[in-house]
Amino acid sequence: MQLNTLGLAHEFLRRSVRPGDVCVDATAGRGRDTALLCRLAGADGRVLAFDVQPEAVRQTQALLAEEGLRAEVYLDSHANLRRYLPPESVQAVVFNLGRLPGGDPHIFTTAENTLPALSAAAELLRPGGVISLSVYYGGPNGYSERDAVLSWLRTLDDRRYTVLAAEWANRRGEPPLPVFIWRER
Ligand SMILES: C[S@@+](CC[C@H](N)C(=O)[O-])C[C@H]1O[C@@H](n2cnc3c(N)ncnc32)[C@H](O)[C@@H]1O
Repeated sequence: MQLNTLGLAHEFLRRSVRPGDVCVDATAGRGRDTALLCRLAGADGRVLAFDVQPEAVRQTQALLAEEGLRAEVYLDSHANLRRYLPPESVQAVVFNLGRLPGGDPHIFTTAENTLPALSAAAELLRPGGVISLSVYYGGPNGYSERDAVLSWLRTLDDRRYTVLAAEWANRRGEPPLPVFIWRER
């Protein structure tokens, strides 16, 4: 099977999350990233998942129940992340930008919420913590969120964070961009 952004993000998370860690899925959607974080953080860990779409919260809770996993799933914007967790307490935050496949086509991530959420996520990371971003663009979402996110990444202090923003050089269509952020130890 061809390598893709989701596969890279999951491999990155597998290497970064240990049992007992606190993790956040900032865009729960169908719950696949939430489920992976639950498996990695284990019974002693804590996973919080956010989505603004009731259907996504429902699908995420259903997947967790099916797989016998446990997470706190909130119907709230990731822009409010700071209300839920103290600074420097989180090992991994996952953003899978775009819209819910089969969901409401009018609900998708936007720079207006994504940028405050990214700033909050960066502050929530503990030393050695990570952020994984899959940046969908084109289609109804357009390019403004992608451009705003890529500009924001360049503003992060290189003494505190390492940022890798990749692109698929020869893939057709508009495949999501994989972005990885590490908080220095
Ligand atoms: C590409 S999907 C996520 C896919 C998901 N990670 C999965 O594994 O199935 C993007 C999700 O972001 C959600 N979303 C849009 N704006 C949001 C916001 N401000 N806060 C949290 N979630 C948001 C959408 O409702 C949608 O479900």
